[in-house]
Amino acid sequence: MKKITHGFSRLLSLSFALLALVAFGGCDLNTKMSTFDVKGPIAETQLDLFMLTVWVTGFIFLVVGGVYVFAVIKFREKPNDNSPMPSQGHGNPLVEIGLIGASVLLLVIIAVPTLQAIWYTHDTPLNEQSKLGNWYTGDELSEDAEEEVLVIRVIGYQWWWEFEYPQLGINTANEMVIPAGKAVHLELRSVDVIHSFWLPRIAGKVDLIPGRANAMWIQAGDNFERWAEKTGADGSELALQAAYNTYLEEEIHDYYYGQCAEYCGDSHARMLFRATVVGDDEFAEWVKSEAEGHTAPEGKPWDEWYKAYDSNPDSLTGDLNEGAKVFMGRGKCIACHSVEGNPRALGVAGPNLTNVGERLSIAAGWLNHHDEEDVLQADKQYENFVKWIKETDVVKPGNLMWKSNGNGIGELLDPEDPDKIKLLTDEEIHYLALYLQSLK
Ligand code: CUA
Repeated sequence: MKKITHGFSRLLSLSFALLALVAFGGCDLNTKMSTFDVKGPIAETQLDLFMLTVWVTGFIFLVVGGVYVFAVIKFREKPNDNSPMPSQGHGNPLVEIGLIGASVLLLVIIAVPTLQAIWYTHDTPLNEQSKLGNWYTGDELSEDAEEEVLVIRVIGYQWWWEFEYPQLGINTANEMVIPAGKAVHLELRSVDVIHSFWLPRIAGKVDLIPGRANAMWIQAGDNFERWAEKTGADGSELALQAAYNTYLEEEIHDYYYGQCAEYCGDSHARMLFRATVVGDDEFAEWVKSEAEGHTAPEGKPWDEWYKAYDSNPDSLTGDLNEGAKVFMGRGKCIACHSVEGNPRALGVAGPNLTNVGERLSIAAGWLNHHDEEDVLQADKQYENFVKWIKETDVVKPGNLMWKSNGNGIGELLDPEDPDKIKLLTDEEIHYLALYLQSLK
């Protein structure tokens, strides 16, 4: 019997070892959500602190484990051993004071860098390089803003993210765009429950708490000074600047994955977000395009379009006009969504859809339409828009669009018969998807 149990426990250990081998074999430290492949001073500080703690606790594990194993082997009971119990060391002042001293020392080794890291990650650095006025190449900055770092107000909703840029007067959702190598101050707010902002390779995590103003700062990549110090690069100012730009271009410009890291209801796991890190000029261009927004289909001014829409909607033909008509009319999209430029699309309950056709994902990062190189795939994008509009409850259970409108795009009124409830037809959804794709 004893033999069988022994064999069984061996088999169990072996299976666990094999299972662990298979499980950890799938681990890759350089994934989109890795906290080991860090890009920027905050995530780097957090990783350094983590590694220090790993080394210190690893050291404790080895010493304590070593002493334990030594004692077990040396003082184990041997067959036919009748020698008395070894003397017990309990209460030895030298050992006890020594252990207390060693513990305090190890705690200090962890505590000092921890405090330093807390201070460092808490205060947004306002240096010459990070001041908006010194790098922002777009126009329309107030004097105050010129002396500040870029501010983004991050607002959590069940289950998506709003990103507002108060100094630049723009507002976007789920995909934030930030400049490489510049400090960005984040104001974290929530309109409903607690969420948590986590952008693993750049920074994390700070909670978004209703009724409380939280803040953090993030930075994708090092600024020039820190980069020069770390690389020890030498040369003329011009050559250094060129090397620094290459570093930003090759190592930092990227499409980063983020995630809500605090359980916040049905679709918490589907509350993702993205950060696109770009160069200064590209950032200014993006801001300009967000602020300008869109004209009506075919470049028509909105007042002209609405005049036709109000008097004779049938005069507006073609795919995009059909889609725009659903967006403004039967789909009731403008009740909850804003689109810059469009004077009637002013809803605030849902994400701002300016340039939504440019984003590489929809539904808060849950439906992606980009390839490995982060290039937009138009076919996939069309599919995703249709899927989202048609099965919004399946894509994101419990979401507001579904709750307020019923299943799918909603229990909408049939224009022929206002008492009859009628869902959007496949044809209407087709045009709507095409129209949304055109918003870029
Ligand atoms: Cu928001 Cu979890």
